[in-house]
Amino acid sequence: MTKYKTIKTARSAIALLGMAVFASSATSSAMADKMDDYKVGDIHSGYVYTAPSTRAMQDDDFENPAFLMVEKGEALWSKPGPNGKSCASCHENPEEDMKGVSATYPKYDPKTKKMMTIEQKINREIVEKTGGKKVKWEKGVMPALSVFIGLQSRGMPMNVKIDGEAAPFYEKGKKFYYTRRGQLNIACKHCHEDYAGKHIRADLLSQGMANGFPAYRLKWQKVGSLHRRFRGCNKNIRAEPYKQGAEEYVNLELYVKSRGNGLKMEIPAVRR
Ligand code: HEC
Ligand code: HEC
Repeated sequence: MTKYKTIKTARSAIALLGMAVFASSATSSAMADKMDDYKVGDIHSGYVYTAPSTRAMQDDDFENPAFLMVEKGEALWSKPGPNGKSCASCHENPEEDMKGVSATYPKYDPKTKKMMTIEQKINREIVEKTGGKKVKWEKGVMPALSVFIGLQSRGMPMNVKIDGEAAPFYEKGKKFYYTRRGQLNIACKHCHEDYAGKHIRADLLSQGMANGFPAYRLKWQKVGSLHRRFRGCNKNIRAEPYKQGAEEYVNLELYVKSRGNGLKMEIPAVRR
């Protein structure tokens, strides 16, 4: 992270990025009502900030390209692993058995004494319960299973636990969020807290909520994990990104999700 020369203030970084300091256009009142579903008090889902055409894709499961992954996940659910067992062998009814599960991750894992994301849990199930090999986060099996499991929490409030054993990890994630980094020397906070609702180049900055991830991004033309999104945000400020599943990102995920506790889960969301 020290590889890049840093610049001094958040303000000059923002200027460098060409951020226009004006608020987004006001929404009509009919739309405001609909938007209430995507807000809890002052906390707003990324849905509120994304383009109307992108929202329309998310609103219609037949239009949402991530549903190809949902179908794939559903098929994989009953595909036997090397030991002859499939997810369905033990979780016969995923609509019930996986209901609300994604809304509670990352969760404290007594085995590693660390936080564990849903992707890490899926990998553990693949290895320990079906005799399979760990899979990569962004290709093939993982996006399919994580989106399929995530869908079973759609509409339920995000609800990560941050007390007890999770507390020290929450603190680390929080620290990450407020730490300046990269050549532009700015923190997550500068864009998603201070400048939410303002434009940065063509993008309207959201509050950086995580309730829709894994999400289909038009820019990626595929479903990607939350950690892939974190990597993009780190790269934008010319900071070294971490790998998917790195402890730094797992803790950051816990903190970011806790900021949105109560927001309805939207997996798989569609974003620009
Ligand atoms: C230079 C400004 C900037 C910084 C700093 C930044 N982001 Fe972002 N982030 C963006 C932009 C632009 C988007 C896409 C539009 C949006 O949702 O805000 C985005 C999107 C996101 C999203 C997806 C929101 C959604 O609903 O689709 C998350 C989550 C996120 N950022 C988290 C973070 C975290 C965590 C950090 C710190 C590691 C961070 N961002 C730092 C600019 C930034
Ligand atoms: C041999 C039975 C068995 C198989 C096969 C199995 N699981 Fe599980 N799974 C369990 C049990 C028991 C638990 C609860 C205890 C635990 O977390 O290990 C569980 C827990 C989980 C959880 C966490 C639920 C929560 O509330 O946190 C997820 C997610 C999960 N399984 C996904 C899968 C997936 C995906 C597969 C297929 C790749 C799979 N499981 C295969 C038995 C199984």
